Amino acid sequence: MDELSVEDPRPLLTQDGRVPFPLGRVCPCCPPAGYAPLRGSAPLGKVTLYDGRSAWAVTGHALACELLTDPRLSRERAGRGFPVVGGRSARGWEEGVALVAGGGRERDVRRLLAWHLTPGRLGSLGACVERIADRLLDAVEAQGPPAELVSSFALPMPASVIGALLGVPEDEHGFFQACARRLLEKGTADEAARARGELGCYLEELVDRKRREPGVGLLDDLMRSDAPAGPLGRDELVALAGTLLVAGHGMAAGMISLAVFTLLGHPGHPGQWAVVRAEGASMDAVVEELLRYGSVSDGVARVAVEDIEVAGHTIRCGEDVVFVTPLINRDGSVFARPDTLDWERSARPHLAFGLGVHQCLGQELARLELKIALRGLFGRFPGLRLDVPVGDIRLGPTAAGVTGLRELPVAW
Ligand code: HEM
Repeated sequence: MDELSVEDPRPLLTQDGRVPFPLGRVCPCCPPAGYAPLRGSAPLGKVTLYDGRSAWAVTGHALACELLTDPRLSRERAGRGFPVVGGRSARGWEEGVALVAGGGRERDVRRLLAWHLTPGRLGSLGACVERIADRLLDAVEAQGPPAELVSSFALPMPASVIGALLGVPEDEHGFFQACARRLLEKGTADEAARARGELGCYLEELVDRKRREPGVGLLDDLMRSDAPAGPLGRDELVALAGTLLVAGHGMAAGMISLAVFTLLGHPGHPGQWAVVRAEGASMDAVVEELLRYGSVSDGVARVAVEDIEVAGHTIRCGEDVVFVTPLINRDGSVFARPDTLDWERSARPHLAFGLGVHQCLGQELARLELKIALRGLFGRFPGLRLDVPVGDIRLGPTAAGVTGLRELPVAW
């Protein structure tokens, strides 16, 4: 396999003999090679986080399902030493829905979002997602070949989709995208704070404008007095919009670029798009297998709020637990030949979207986006191919805990 560029200078094991978590990938769509010792300690091992803290690492699928639905593991970040897994601290909107609604309203807000993001409700958004993809591909076609797909397609498409979902006017999508991109870029904490501030001001102004002139979108629905959780206040709406953008943009952008790379240039499985077409594989199955195989999220983190006896170990109250999604999704007891791409398999039990109360609220939207992105791209450019040797493809920039490509040069 060609080596791919990776920017992770850390040693494979830390001084205490543990695997550091998360590690950078060598092949963008495969688990980091440095996780090999964790496969040996499956389903539960130990890792060292970037700041030297030790954490339990769940790598088995059955144990992950058990623990992700165990209320003794909490995602509550406030006031505790919650395990932050990236050097670029996951503060602000990355803290999730919990931040949006204090005073016991979190569950209401989550239920409300889940309702807005059901497949039925998304039906009307489908045409809009297609329009967004088409418009971006028009520009790609007009300027190329060659083209750089991360900046021209994989990043702007999910940002515009979240914009459309929230009700951001179409002529402001460009500004919204630019803010969102700055938020994802690997920069200093100050740069991240500046980008958050800029987007926050924009969202405040948007919410105020919508109060004066109501329009169509999730924000408009949530500020109505008959909204099921009661009308959300300005700060709550701004935080919710920011949360959705951070949660939905980086992950979906990373997954689109990983999916295209996997179909075009996977070093171990070349020419997969041709295989998909030859096998007449269903797009639903292709998308699930790409989600399983690529596992764009490095993992999710929790903290134990009680002692838990599990898999012959005791996870003590206060200890950190990380779920190593790329390994969980390649557990051979659930997925036969887990390291092989199989477009016929039923990959749906994968945990790319997590599980339990915190599982991804945007998963149906993410599936819709991926399907439309791949259909649009390969439909428009049937001869799509990588325009650089596989070894020149570089990883990142990504949000904390998300894998993506820095650039994806293609031609057709
Ligand atoms: C391929 C794309 C995506 C992947 C792989 C993904 C993955 C995940 C994962 C693993 C979690 C669980 C975090 C945890 O358990 O701590 C999560 C949560 C979440 N996701 Fe996604 N996501 C994707 C796209 C989206 C999109 C498009 C949206 C927005 C519309 C979204 C909104 C959310 C929200 C709001 C949460 C927080 C749920 C909560 O705290 O209850 N995601 N996502």
